[in-house]
Amino acid sequence: MHKNVKKILFTEAEIIARSTELGAAITNDYRDRERPPLLVALLRGSVPFLAELIKHIDLDIQYDFMDVTSYAGTESGGDIKILKDLDTSVQDLDILLVEDIVDTGRTLDAVISLLKNKGARSVKIVTLLDKPSRRVLEMKPDYVGFEVPNEFVVGFGMDYNQLYRGLPYIGVLKEECYQ
Ligand code: IMP
Repeated sequence: MHKNVKKILFTEAEIIARSTELGAAITNDYRDRERPPLLVALLRGSVPFLAELIKHIDLDIQYDFMDVTSYAGTESGGDIKILKDLDTSVQDLDILLVEDIVDTGRTLDAVISLLKNKGARSVKIVTLLDKPSRRVLEMKPDYVGFEVPNEFVVGFGMDYNQLYRGLPYIGVLKEECYQ
């Protein structure tokens, strides 16, 4: 375990097992649609989860990336900027937004409005983690890997000041590391 991690919440095996279940549920829900969904992953935290999840979706999906947040430190800011827009048109497509963690809900709220304004037919959310205790805007992800308590987590894509993204598990960062 990394020296700055206080405890492990979810091991790599648990994350893979849960991603397998989510992939099966998504496959089942979208199987009869005219076209498979376009997965839109929010950079950078969702990349490891996207990579795991797509192995378990048995549909001809495509994926694209957006970078939208000016998130820094441990507080989610309300000031959301588009740093990288999609390369793909979302007109008439079913979109599945892929997130690492839903915290206040501000990021997804802004992205959902944006995609709907661009003509997406539907927008659903799959998130590896959900931290509902911190919600500021009403936001109920359609597919959730795990619910987490109000603690700052890192690993499997999630960072503190760009560190710890490569940890293969999800852990709680020691308080002294972000104070
Ligand atoms: P929201 O807009 O407040 O829902 O923030 C979502 C984003 O904040 C996530 O995509 C993460 O980048 C970041 N975030 C929120 N909580 C944590 C955490 O506990 N660890 C790492 N990143 C977090």
